[in-house]
Formats: sequence, C-alpha cells, structure tokens
Amino acid sequence: MIPQDFIQTLLNRVDIVEIIDRRVPLKKAGANYQACCPFHSEKSPSFTVSPSKQFYHCFGCGAHGTAIGFLMEYAGLGYIDAIKELAAQTGMTVPDSAPADPQRVQQVASLVELMQQAALYYRQQLKHAPVAIDYLKKRGLTGEIAARYGLGYAPPGWQNLQAIFEHYDDAALVEGGLVILNESGKRYDRFRERIMFPIIGLKGDVIGFGGRVLDSGEPKYLNSPETPLFQKGHELYGLFQARRAIRDAGRALVVEGYMDVVALAQHGVGYAVATLGTATTPNHLQKLLRHTDEIVFCFDGDSAGQRAAWRALENSLAMLTDNSRVGFLFLPTQHDPDSYIREHGKDEFETLLQQQTVPLSNYLLMELARQHDPSTSEGKSALLKTAHPLITQINTPVLALILRKRVAELAGIQLAELEALWKIDFQRKRSANALQRAARPAPVSNYRRLLRALLFRPALAGELNTALLTLNQADASAVQGVIELLQQHPHLETAAVVEHFRDSPLMPQLQQASSEIMDWPDDFDALAECELACEQIETEQQNLRAASIANKSINSLTEAEKMELQQAAKRKAKTEK
Ligand code: UTP
Ligand code: MN
Repeated sequence: MIPQDFIQTLLNRVDIVEIIDRRVPLKKAGANYQACCPFHSEKSPSFTVSPSKQFYHCFGCGAHGTAIGFLMEYAGLGYIDAIKELAAQTGMTVPDSAPADPQRVQQVASLVELMQQAALYYRQQLKHAPVAIDYLKKRGLTGEIAARYGLGYAPPGWQNLQAIFEHYDDAALVEGGLVILNESGKRYDRFRERIMFPIIGLKGDVIGFGGRVLDSGEPKYLNSPETPLFQKGHELYGLFQARRAIRDAGRALVVEGYMDVVALAQHGVGYAVATLGTATTPNHLQKLLRHTDEIVFCFDGDSAGQRAAWRALENSLAMLTDNSRVGFLFLPTQHDPDSYIREHGKDEFETLLQQQTVPLSNYLLMELARQHDPSTSEGKSALLKTAHPLITQINTPVLALILRKRVAELAGIQLAELEALWKIDFQRKRSANALQRAARPAPVSNYRRLLRALLFRPALAGELNTALLTLNQADASAVQGVIELLQQHPHLETAAVVEHFRDSPLMPQLQQASSEIMDWPDDFDALAECELACEQIETEQQNLRAASIANKSINSLTEAEKMELQQAAKRKAKTEK
C-alpha cells in the first residue's frame, strides 16, 4: 500500500487543472474550468474541473475523479503508474518503504502472464480437437469469429496445465483460478473438457475464462472465480472486442450469455456484451455509458429473463443522464439472442431492435401495473410504494417529474398529492449556477447532506457524533466510512478522501456527493450544514422510535416510553405551527 499521507501530499502538490489542461485544453467558467468531455462525445462542454476541490466531473457522462483517476482513465495508466507519473512531475519519489504494493503489482503482472499463457494453450488445443471444432461449427461459428474471440478448448484430463507451467504448484495458478487446490492438498485444472471463452479486460489482457461443457454436463458454464484481475460485477464479456462497433452503431446491446455475444458478432452485430452470470450492476452501466449513450438490454423472453430485466432496471435508474437512453428488448419466449439471429439473421434482428425496444420509462410503468393491480385501491397503494424508491433514484429532474406524473395517473391521484406523499422538496435550489444545480437529484437524505458537507470540509469529521449513524442507508455507511478514515488520518483533504475509496463499494456515494459539491462557493458554511443535517437525523430517529412505541398498546408502555411519545407530540405541534 502506498501510504495515505503520501497520496495526500501528492494531490496537494499537483494541480489537476494543469494536469488536465495539458491534455484537454480547458476554459475558465466561473470558479471552475470546462471542456468538451474526453470520455464521451458531446458538442457543448459538460466536463468540469474544480481547482478548489481538485476533482473533475462530467455532467454528461458522469466520469469523475481526481488527478490520479484522470491519468488512469485518459492515459490508460494503472493506479501505481498514475501515481508515479504525478510524482515524477512534482519531483517526488514514491516511497518503497511499504513493500506490499510493488509486490502486488508484480503479482498482478505475473497473473496476467499466466492467464495469457493458458489462453494460448487452450487456443492451440482447439486446433487439435475435432469434437470441439465440430461443436462450434454446429453452433454456426466460423474460424474467423472463433479467432476474434480467442475461443479455445480445455481437453479432458486433470492436470493438463502441467504441460505448460513449469511450477504447477505455484500459488499464483490457484490465485488466478486456473488450478483448484482441494482440502486434501491435491491440485487439478479447474477447466476440463470445455469450450473456453477468454474474458478480456479493457487493456486487452485475459483476466478470466468461461468454459462451456460440450454435452449436457453440469454446470453448463463454469466461470473463473473472483481474482485480483477479475471482478464479475465490473466486467462485461466482449466489451474489448465490441468497442469499435459500439461507437459505430451508437449503441451497446447487453445480453445474458457468452454464446449470445459470439453468435451476434458472427452475424454482423458486433456491439453486444454480456454480464457474466450476474445481474447488471451500476458499475457495468457506468462502464458502458463511457462508450455510448444508448444501451439496450436484450434478455430471453422467459421468466428468468424478465427477472434479469427488472434487476437491470433497478440498477440503471441512478445512472441515467439527460443524454442516455436505456431500453429493453424482449425476445419471443422460445428464443435467446443466439437462436434468434441464427434463425432470422441480422436484418430481422435489427428491425426487431428498432421496433420492439421498450424505453426504460415505459417498461417501468408496465411492470408496476403488472405487479400491482391498479384497478383496486390496495393495488394502487402498493404500486405507489414500489414506485417511490425507484423513481427517487433518477437523477434527471425532467424524466423524474414525468414519471411521477405518470405514476400519479396510474394510481388515480394528483401529481401534487403524490409529491406531498413522497415529500418532494423543491426548496433546495441555490442561486449560484442555478441551471446546473437544477439538473441535480431532487430529494436528498440528511445523510447525503452530511456526506457532502464532510467532503467539503473533512476537518469537520472530528466534531461529529458517530452515534447518529445507525440507519441502514448507503449514504449513512459512506458517512461512517469517511469519519473512520478521518479519525485515522485527520489531515486528509477532499481529493485524497475520495481517492481512498477508489475500489470500495461506497465509491458511488462518494462520487455522487463530491460531484454535487463541485460548485459550492469556498465560503460555504459547511459547519452549519453539518449541524442542521445532524439535528434532522436525530429528529428522524426520535420520530421513528416514537412511531414504533405508538404501535404498542398503551398499558405496556414504560414511563420513559410515555415521555418519548409526549416529546414527539410536542415536536410535531411545533413544526405544524
Ligand atoms: P444460459 O443458460 O441462458 O445459457 O446462461 P446460454 O447463454 O443460452 O448458453 P448456450 O446457448 O446453451 O451455450 C446464460 C449465461 O449465464 C451464465 C453464463 O454467463 C451464460 O452465458 N451461466 C449459465 C453460468 O455462469 N453458469 C451456468 O451454469 C449457466
Ligand atoms: Mn443459448
């Protein structure tokens, strides 16, 4: 690990404006700097760099980060290399005193090598395996496509990899997921008698494999485990090969299976990628939205496909931007994309795509009405309850408004009634930069307010009462994470705090919150904001407790509980005055 304090000093010394301006010329716009975004194509600049916060943020595609993140994204550097590059520019030396990190880099580098060697081996084995070649031919694939996707074959046998790896007992083979070490200490190849689909990371390295049985064995597909190189929630099969086609087509198609991607490419639809046997994550979406504004999920027509689509919808909502279009294409029930394109060909598939893709908003409303019968009062009430957390995740105000309107119609109530019910708060617009600000999420939790204020002035962390952080909310965990970090490293500043969470599940919260403070004026009263948010959190918690006490029968209440109820009633009377 590179010490936090080194990263802090480094980020203090470099100026992100200068670093970016050298590569993407920036223009001053108010307190910040702007340019057309280098990470997606656009005509008017929404890429913004904050000199005071030392972040960049694109209001179009959501790209966001520190100077380190910029070099990684823009120049394709790894984390360590980006730090080294920045250090070199400021004449600093990255400390080797913490040996864990260089070791780790080397470890990852050697894993990449091992994976590459294994992929080569599997490819060569395919040439000598008529059963496997026949199988691929039967599935309609040509040698050209097999080569493009680097398809291979793991022959039968338990320790074939011994032939190519001198040290079969090297722990790295287990770590990379190529070899399994069982409880009795025996080692054997993970992939045996399977068609091999290498999974390629965005740098072009093999980071994992999927292997399909030739006949009807179980499991049908075996995937690499999570390794230092490979995290399923981050990777999309086929993205490396599809990048060009995605740009040309202006869209990406997300499908469920390896074979779907390969078969679509075989028939000229090169812009498909697949999730790897997991649900679509916000991370997947974010990755894809760097390449295109239009994403179509194409799932099987069966009930598993329906479930996958709903999960994809839930995970897309927070990622929608004003420019992005997300749609859903449901194939006839007996088909998956592979079988459909083989039977009907490219043109019919693309016609279907044009004509039958349902925009996300329509799919959302259709599903709500399907899950809850809007002809009964109970159904309407349940529908409103399901819709609320979904719609509040949408960060584009116009779409959110339209959806609230349509949900209100569906439930047979007025928009104003729905907004009162959901406590939509329109009072938060600030005068500075009102336009950009209006493009921010409408309702915001007190934890989010706290998180933003803390990121704005990390030094405030020392003054907070951590007992408040008990609710199970993403923003609450993020506040807690930030406070814990700052207890250990009290002098970190904003960019270094965000950088610390680079690979953490809390990153989306931090990223959102830090993009929201981009244009806060330097003299913003963060302390007052913190205090107000804490006060309101406390009141919320007291109200919650009071509500649960109020549900008990009066006779069973203790004196203390009765007091609490009285206080809650007083608070209520006061706020209603
Ligand atoms: P499907 O079972 O729909 O298979 O799994 P498929 O893609 O149509 O495969 P073919 O056409 O029979 O070859 C869809 C995806 O779910 C994951 C894989 O990523 C697969 O491509 N999966 C499926 C697994 O990871 N393991 C399994 O055992 C099955
Ligand atoms: Mn299939």
